[in-house]
Amino acid sequence: MLNSKIAGIGFYVPKNTYTNEDLKKYMDTSDEWIQERTGIQERHYADRLTETTTTMGVEAAKIAMERAGTTPDEIDFIVFATLSPDYYFPGCGVLLQRELKMKEIGALDVRNQCSGFVYALSVADQFIKTGMYKNILVVGSEKHSFGLDFSTRGRNVTVIFGDGAGAVVLQPATREGQGILSTHLHSDGSSAEILAMYNPGTHANHWSPQFPAKFDEAEIGQMFMSHAMIDEAQNFPYMDGPAVFKKAIVKLPEAVEESLKQNGLTTADLNMLIPHQANLRIAQFVQQKLHLRDDQVHNNIQRYGNTTAASVPIALCEAWEMGKIKEGDLVCLAAFGSGFTWASALIRW
Ligand code: UT7
Repeated sequence: MLNSKIAGIGFYVPKNTYTNEDLKKYMDTSDEWIQERTGIQERHYADRLTETTTTMGVEAAKIAMERAGTTPDEIDFIVFATLSPDYYFPGCGVLLQRELKMKEIGALDVRNQCSGFVYALSVADQFIKTGMYKNILVVGSEKHSFGLDFSTRGRNVTVIFGDGAGAVVLQPATREGQGILSTHLHSDGSSAEILAMYNPGTHANHWSPQFPAKFDEAEIGQMFMSHAMIDEAQNFPYMDGPAVFKKAIVKLPEAVEESLKQNGLTTADLNMLIPHQANLRIAQFVQQKLHLRDDQVHNNIQRYGNTTAASVPIALCEAWEMGKIKEGDLVCLAAFGSGFTWASALIRW
């Protein structure tokens, strides 16, 4: 059974950049605070009216397909990872299928937040390995800028996130030992409410009584999204940053080590680690813990912020474009985020 390989990769970020200084127009924050705590200097925001999570995914996909030498007609399955879909439903996968005028192929949306792309890659990998599909488009894309609280109230979350998209075309590998060697998926739902967007949703305060959603229980039509929820900014993400940080610095190195161990390899064999770009301090902690040199890790959060499901493919593509990843190199992707979910993928490029 042959592995699957990344035959083409691309990324797209919108042209509008917002520096930390620009964010001061909206909230009480500072360049110093943001850089010191996260490493972020600027992020890109989609054009409010003309760009969506799907259209950015389409741009990244076009580059990935061109580099893979495939056309939209040849793609036989789509896996689209995002937490900021164009619609609550249907998912972005079908919108991408429509935009790229693809055949009536299957389209699956993955909602695993920061680890979404690695999960999506793992799903696609299984379909290639079983021989069911030959050309799968895997996309991670986010338009965070539409769903953040730009007042001081939301500053701990808002300053971190940015918009963008990354995509790969997955195909059967052409030689033994090439491609995705293994993927590793994990979750711990006991911390689901630590990083979450509660509303709109159907939870009816069942799971998170400590963060009660504001609705009048008598009004059945208003329980999904009420005026009171909006007045109290309950439609924005909630994050206990320090709690997420503490878990991430344990689970990310574990996921990398697990992938290496399964393949009889060590960190000395690793040419490039692409950690999810959540916080430069987290990535540096992971690097230290794994005793990796600077040339074994690629970070770009400084320029893009945290683009969630897009962060791993954007960083992977950028590292490859910069010549930091060459044929035969051992590359590890690792991500951690809301859920909690975390995942890794080990790839022989
Ligand atoms: O990708 C998804 C997974 N997410 C993550 O991995 C995020 C993990 N967590 C983190 O990266 C960090 O926890 C943050 C960057 C979010 C926050 O850094 P921190 O060092 O943990 O700060 P904190 O939340 O403990 O807040 C420290 C102080 C607070 O003020 P007081 O209570 O000490 O007076 C905050 O109100 O910093 C304040 N603060 C800000 N100040 C200026 C929070 N956000 C800001 C801000 N600007 N943007």
